[in-house]
Amino acid sequence: MAETIDTRIVHHPGEQDLACAARILQKGGLVAFPTETVYGLGASALDAEAAKKIYQAKGRPSDNPLIIHLASAADAWRYAKIPSCFEKLAECFMPGPLTVIVPKKDIIPDPVTGGLSTVAIRVPAHPLAHRLLQLAEIPIAAPSANRSGRPSCTTAGHVMEDMNGRVDMILDGGDCQFGVESTILLPVGNREVKLLRPGAVTVEMLKENGFDVSLDKAVTQRLQENEHPLAPGMKYRHYAPQAQLILLSGSQEAVVSYMQEKVGEAGTAFILFEELLDCLPQGRSVSLGKQSDAKEQAHRLFSVLRMFDAHPEIDTIYAQLPPKDDISLALYNRMLKASGYTVVSCV
Ligand code: TXA
Ligand code: MG
Repeated sequence: MAETIDTRIVHHPGEQDLACAARILQKGGLVAFPTETVYGLGASALDAEAAKKIYQAKGRPSDNPLIIHLASAADAWRYAKIPSCFEKLAECFMPGPLTVIVPKKDIIPDPVTGGLSTVAIRVPAHPLAHRLLQLAEIPIAAPSANRSGRPSCTTAGHVMEDMNGRVDMILDGGDCQFGVESTILLPVGNREVKLLRPGAVTVEMLKENGFDVSLDKAVTQRLQENEHPLAPGMKYRHYAPQAQLILLSGSQEAVVSYMQEKVGEAGTAFILFEELLDCLPQGRSVSLGKQSDAKEQAHRLFSVLRMFDAHPEIDTIYAQLPPKDDISLALYNRMLKASGYTVVSCV
């Protein structure tokens, strides 16, 4: 795509800037904005042409549907047929880092949902996203603001890297709080959900609130050619740095000694917990945060993966495979996909 649009970036946007962004969206333009998960690339969810511009700007396959963002869960009935499970989830977790798949109404044009009869709904808690949605008075379709296949954007700087010249405006709201995209759920019963993508609303939190949760296979496993994930986006290679990411499973000691063996090889780099940084030479390893702080690890993951893209001399990155509990399940899922499911077992 030719880079022709004059992109305006607004740092610390105020009410006037948000009103201007809302007008751009109402007129069919593209605005990137911060949410508490990752930055979104927004367009009117009621405008088929605007939605097509999103696919173009991202270089995204048009069968991969978009999430629609609303100012309030109470507005959802306008755009979708709302099952009682949605209402219960909304009571517990909206606004927040949660997306729920529900049957769509005709007002949502086909390009937004990639032709599916369902639509993904999210009510972001970030104050700038919330105010923008209030001022725009329309639902905003927004995928993550990265170019297709790259790690999602957790800072406005990342959005500039990927979207300068492709969108009308970028609202800079600083670092995103969670750093991984929203949890996606498909209601399958009154208080029963299928987890299509793990995020900061965790399986443990859902269970604590009385929901039965099953995991879609695509969350933890590579699907076969003939299998289709319930969230179409889960089939694409994603979050990928240009270097090959290799995940290491096994005890901490085994993983660290495997890394120490690889230090001598040219072009290698390492993603480590902060406490282990001393085990490897400086300059080749990057901290993902403290081992006990999975929230911080999630917050840093995409920045760390993007940072390696600025170092073309690095062709192989080794990292420890995360556990599968709480928000670590989101890290596990993203890192597995970023690695193209490349896991080495260390003994
Ligand atoms: O945190 C987030 O969810 C961010 C912020 C901007 O809200 N958005 C985001 O959007 O991650 P995106 O487009 O990068 O990921 C949306 C995922 C894709 O895997 C897509 O296939 C799935 O949601 N999805 C969207 N609509 C769906 C539907 N009707 N049925 C099943 N999956 C759907
Ligand atoms: Mg995305």
